[in-house]
Amino acid sequence: MQTVNRLIALREAVESLRADGEIALVPTMGALHEGHLTLVREARKRAARTVVSIFVNPTQFGPNEDLDAYPRRMAEDSRLLEAEGVDLLWAPTVEQVYPAGFATNISVSGVSEGFCGAARPGHFDGVATVVCKLFHHVLPDIALFGEKDWQQLAVIRRMARDLDLVQPHVERILGVATVREADGLAMSSRNQYLTPEQRSQAAALPRAMRAAIAQIEGGGDVAQALIALEQALLDGGFSSVDYAALADADSLEPLSLAPQRPARLLVAARIGTTRLIDNMAVAAR
Ligand code: PAF
Repeated sequence: MQTVNRLIALREAVESLRADGEIALVPTMGALHEGHLTLVREARKRAARTVVSIFVNPTQFGPNEDLDAYPRRMAEDSRLLEAEGVDLLWAPTVEQVYPAGFATNISVSGVSEGFCGAARPGHFDGVATVVCKLFHHVLPDIALFGEKDWQQLAVIRRMARDLDLVQPHVERILGVATVREADGLAMSSRNQYLTPEQRSQAAALPRAMRAAIAQIEGGGDVAQALIALEQALLDGGFSSVDYAALADADSLEPLSLAPQRPARLLVAARIGTTRLIDNMAVAAR
């Protein structure tokens, strides 16, 4: 596996990989876990060559968020990617991505506004801007993202559609199913912030979500199911719930009645100072 930190070296490396066939990109912020490695394995099945980026993107963190504390483990990440057969690791510096005087922002309205967009102002502008840049750096044929960040995936697809991105074309921006721990907790780099007690309490999140989905799919009242979900989280040790909502899977329009089209149950809740997010499919009736 080749590792490059400068754009000029990246362009050369990508050009030589392109001679072998299609290129898949897996954008990450590092601190890799099984969820990321699942994306890499899927990428390797779908393309001749796989590029992974590791960049802790400062513009998607709010002023009081965990940018400084965000885990950085380049040596270990690099070993994991090498073992997975990744061809190229793109690990740019902040100065490479945001040169002095950087003044451009991509802001996707609509899908980015509710849920995490409302709770974390500017977050999705940072995500859209950096992902657009990473796409331009690598010009991948395929890009893969975890479905755990469902809203992020919707924002990236909207951006790709609206900006007529060719590489990757919006149809080739793939979501990969969330990878879960044995107790159902979605894998996340932020799970490592949890104390052992909080870690065991965190399993209340997928449990409460499954119960709410069973209620909604069984014809129960949506508002009641969401109230019960929030209460189960608070009873289970969560300190607060940012949102618990049912939304259309594509437009992310909130739904107050049992869905007629595929929907998603979306939740963000805090356990201590750690904010966990999750989402699950809710079948249409
Ligand atoms: O999901 C992430 O890890 C990040 O938001 C991404 C897509 C790599 C952009 O920084």
